[in-house]
Amino acid sequence: MKLPLLSQNPGPIGIFDSGYGGLTILNKIREKLPQYDYIYLGDNARSPYGTRSFEIVYEFTLQAVNKLFEMGCHLIILACNTASAKALRSIQINDLPNIDASRRVLGVIRPTVERIGDITASRHVGILATAGTIRSESYPMEIHKLFPDIKVSGVACPMWVPLVENNEAHSEGADYFIRKYIDQLMEKDPKIDTILLGCTHYPILLPKIQRYVPKNIRVVPQGEYVADSLKDYLKRHPEMDRKCTRNGSCLFYTTEAEEKFTESASTFLKQKVKATRISLGTV
Ligand code: DGL
Repeated sequence: MKLPLLSQNPGPIGIFDSGYGGLTILNKIREKLPQYDYIYLGDNARSPYGTRSFEIVYEFTLQAVNKLFEMGCHLIILACNTASAKALRSIQINDLPNIDASRRVLGVIRPTVERIGDITASRHVGILATAGTIRSESYPMEIHKLFPDIKVSGVACPMWVPLVENNEAHSEGADYFIRKYIDQLMEKDPKIDTILLGCTHYPILLPKIQRYVPKNIRVVPQGEYVADSLKDYLKRHPEMDRKCTRNGSCLFYTTEAEEKFTESASTFLKQKVKATRISLGTV
């Protein structure tokens, strides 16, 4: 396959998610780093990724990464745990050297895991995530590399992303499924004192999640940690920092109909945004 010639001019930071979930990460990143330019890309037409195979998540994620590089990004954050779990390593090791070895793709799992050791006192941590992320075992593996003493229990929440993607997060019907997965997790390990939301869609359900989680348990969304880690990364890598433009702008792209994205994203961001439709692969 012939790769397109990529511009070496500085460009925006790319933020990718299968759908709307990455907006929770984008929000935190823009709070901490408002000076940079961003491109948000949601593969809404093919979301959710959480139930898809390794091969497909890798293929879709690589298409998105290539598109963001073509749009001028030098640095991309996979604001999606499923893509971080299933595609990030292959892209970093096998694809980046062929595309452009100076560009970078970072994920959301490592920055989250690094902070978990300071949060849990009981050393029993619960992970709520998509079926793909849970099945990949990425969270227990990464946590045990840094904190071998922590017991990690995970539960897949296959209904949570569809609730968010279909704008049903605040409906009455959502409560049943929110409670169901939390109860399953607490049954697995009643000593859990920290629940990590290992999917970027889940902070949108946070008020309801908090309603059903026992009061002594801390629920941790990851946006803040990812934003801190990016800030630190740019400080430690001035050569990459110089390749990121700074006009405080943010452009939104989706593989779904523009109006659909505009309507839903505006609720998650609490501001009106305009999106542009683009194609990735066959959509
Ligand atoms: N928001 C994504 C994650 O963090 C993916 C959700 C999905 O597409 O299933 O895992």
